[in-house]
This record gives sequence, structure tokens and C-alpha cells, in this order.
Amino acid sequence: MNQQDRFKQLISHAKEYGFIYPSSEIYDGLGAVYDYGPNGVELKNNIRKYWWAAMTRLHENIVGIDAAIFMHPDVWKASGHVDAFNDPLIDNKDSGKRYRADQLIEDYLQKLDDKIYREVSKAAKRFGEKFDEKLFRETNPRIQQVREKKDGIHQRFVKALQDSNLNELRQIIIDCEIADPVSGSRNWTEVRQFNLMFETKVGSVREDANTIYLRPETAQGIFVNFLNVQKTSRMKIPFGIAQAGKAFRNEIVARQFIFRMREFEQMEMQFFVEPGKEMEWFEYWKDKRMRWHQSVIGNIEKLRFHDHDKLAHYANAATDIEFKFPIGFKEVEGIHSRTDYDLARHQELSGRRIQYFDPDTKDSYIPYVVETSIGLDRMFLAILANAYSEEKAPNAEGELEDRIVLKIHPALAPVQIAVLPLVKKDGLPEIARKIIDNLKIDFNCRHDEKDSIGRRYRRQDAIGTPYCITYYY
Ligand code: GAP
Repeated sequence: MNQQDRFKQLISHAKEYGFIYPSSEIYDGLGAVYDYGPNGVELKNNIRKYWWAAMTRLHENIVGIDAAIFMHPDVWKASGHVDAFNDPLIDNKDSGKRYRADQLIEDYLQKLDDKIYREVSKAAKRFGEKFDEKLFRETNPRIQQVREKKDGIHQRFVKALQDSNLNELRQIIIDCEIADPVSGSRNWTEVRQFNLMFETKVGSVREDANTIYLRPETAQGIFVNFLNVQKTSRMKIPFGIAQAGKAFRNEIVARQFIFRMREFEQMEMQFFVEPGKEMEWFEYWKDKRMRWHQSVIGNIEKLRFHDHDKLAHYANAATDIEFKFPIGFKEVEGIHSRTDYDLARHQELSGRRIQYFDPDTKDSYIPYVVETSIGLDRMFLAILANAYSEEKAPNAEGELEDRIVLKIHPALAPVQIAVLPLVKKDGLPEIARKIIDNLKIDFNCRHDEKDSIGRRYRRQDAIGTPYCITYYY
């Protein structure tokens, strides 16, 4: 089965077993918006709880907040989002479909990488143990050719992004003969910038209403509360502020299930440090966060770092932690060294002094910030994709049949313990209920007495329940 089919199966499994439903499905859904079902909400809560504990409880110098989604509109002028939170969009004239120009090129570059990978895998099989991958990569003419092509396009792409050169982005698409993935047409419009923020109005009289934005990142709620938190919690630098909450982006391309949503949840932590120490802390948080991912995913080969080709307007270093989804390696978390950009801009626009007074050196300064920013829904998808496996198991007649098992870490599983009385009589269900009563404060338990014991085990396998107790006397 190819990866796209596998992804489709995962999506239908997620719906069938109460993890994720399309939003407003009875009205044919709403693009890139999803609802979490009974098992989904448990898994999502558990991921958030695990992240929260890792960031706040395990770090004495990190505290949490929960800021409002609505913020003063000047926040987004100061942060640069009003002017610069844009994606380059391009339309296909034949299909009428809209794409992100940068993503079309990134997907093309990924295909070149996949080509190299396929050549290497074929050769590895052919040569067996004697295979010297490094030598092969350096000397094989086909690989050299693809790599040269890729490097050339990559260089042009990075420069076009850095210069915000939209004509050049279009030219790369034309030169590489990139076609609309849906229709195959190469009839493209110009590339235009598109601001991703959703606007709404605040105030009861519409004419007098002010335009405000649904926050596109949770981070600004932390920045504007920097002084409040530092003073009320008596924090000394270095220290961090963590927050989990909804964010909203009017994504142009939203065809990848919960990977790219218009309403999603972020779990962010801003770590405030002395200027000049930010790269040290950047490395520290890269390492810490990668370990966290490894503890959840288990398989380190499915995780990697990917440094940004183009730094955001606020960053002097940035890397992503990527997970190998069925649609390829993609970002799950960003780690950014954001300099003093945000605090300095808020100081400038608000007219308030936003500085830290160091009681040891008696110096005042605007702290630098290292941010860790993970998408909760993307992490959810990574966990689901990592957990999804097909196995063969004997049915009641002893014949082998396919079954889906979600191998989710027990600490995150939506249901931790299922209690299954062997039969629905002789007082067994009542005893099963008593077992649940003893466990339910500490664990999410489920009672199931319907169908054969084998079917009940399959049902629990399909939602990732790590422990089942069968009561039979
Ligand atoms: N405060 C920095 C920031 O927002 P970002 O790289 O734009 O950085 C951070 O977003 C994380 O939020 C991403 O790594 C991703 O997991 C998640 N994210 C961003 N856009 C998303 C979307 N449209 N749908 C789901 N998750 C998204």
C-alpha cells in the first residue's frame, strides 16, 4: 500500500473510532477545521498534559499563563504580523485550485531527494554488506546529476524567499515544469502575497467597531505579559513562560487533514535570557525538545532537525523538529531564537518600558528570547501515524484476519484500562464495575461486556488501550 492510501486509511480510522470528525459534517464540513471525538479529546488532553508537565513541573524556572485569544490590534502591528505574516499564493488557471508557491517548490525538491534515496536503497540491496553508501553518493553519476539540479534550484529558492521575490518564485515553478498536483496543468497565475490573519469586529455597534484579529500564534500573549509574570512570580533571568491555546490562520492550502488547519492549538514556551547567551540556550532547547519527542515517538529514525531556509522577520536562528508522516518528513515543532525583537517592538509601540533589572549586575536590558513552539494537533497526528499498524491475528474460527492496532504510549492512550467481564452473567459485570470504581480516579477506564472477548480486545487494540483486564470467575 502506498503512503497516500495509508494516510487515507488513518483518516478514516480516526473517524470510525471517535478520534477526529470533520467540523459541521452534516453541512458537508468546513475546510481545514476538525472536531475531536471522545477518544480524540482524551488523547489530545494527555499530550497537552505531558507537554505541560515536561515544561513547567520539570523546570522550576518556567511558569504558565493562559492569555485571551483577542488582543489589542496594535499587538499585531508591533509583532510584524499585519505587514509580514504572508504566504505566497499561486492559482492554477485551468483547475482553479490555489497553492502556496513555496510549498510547490519544496515538494519538488523533496521529490529530488526521494529520487536519490531510491537510487541509494537500490544499490544497497544490490551490493549487500559491501555497500559503501558515502562513496556511492559521492561517485554515482546519476546521483551527482540530481544533487546538482537540486542544489541549483534550492539556492534560487532560498534567495527568492530572502528577497521576497515573487516573480522569481513563479519562474522557478515554470523552469522546473511543476504541474498542478490535481489536474496536471502548468498554466499558472502570478504569485501574490496573502495575509493569514482572520479579522473580526469588536463592539456592539458595527459601524463603530474596531477590527481585531484572531491570534495567529499564542506567543504574543506571553510577550505582552512579560513584566506582569516576571514581577508577580519574582522570576530571575533565565526563565520561561509556557502557554497552550488556540491559534487561527487562514491557510491557503489546507488539504492535509489536521496537519494544516485554520483553527488549531499551539503549545509554546518563551525562554527569556541575557543578550548574547541566546545561542547557548537555543542549543539547550533543541536538545531538550528532541528528547521529549523521542520519548513519545520511540523511533528516532522518524525524527530529524531541519534548519530554516528563510528566517522569520524576528529570528536570528531557527530549526524545526520534523516527523516522518505518511506524507513525508514535516515540521511538528519550531525552535526559534527570536532575539529581543518582540519585546523591543512592544516597548516602542506601547510606550511602556519593558526591561529586566538584573539585581546582581544592576543592569537593565530587554531580554532575548528562545522559543519552543509545537502544534498540538500536529503532534496528535504524528502520534496517531506512528501508532497505526496492521497485524494479522486469528479470529474465533482460527483464521488469520487483519486488524488495526494503535501502539500509543500507555501514558498518552485515550483509555488506559478496559475491564471486560468474560460473560454477561453470574455477577461478573458487577464485579468488573467494582474494579473500575477502584481504578477510575487514577486511570481512564472503560467497561465493555458486548460481543465475544476477542472482538472486545480488537476494539481496544483499535483505540490504543494498553491494558485489558478480563474478569472470569
Ligand atoms: N510562535 C511561533 C510560531 O507560531 P510556527 O512555526 O508558525 O511558529 C509553530 O508554528 C507550530 O505550530 C508548528 O510547528 C506547527 O506544529 C503548528 N502549526 C502552525 N500552523 C499550523 C496549522 N495551520 N495547523 C496546525 N498546526 C500548525
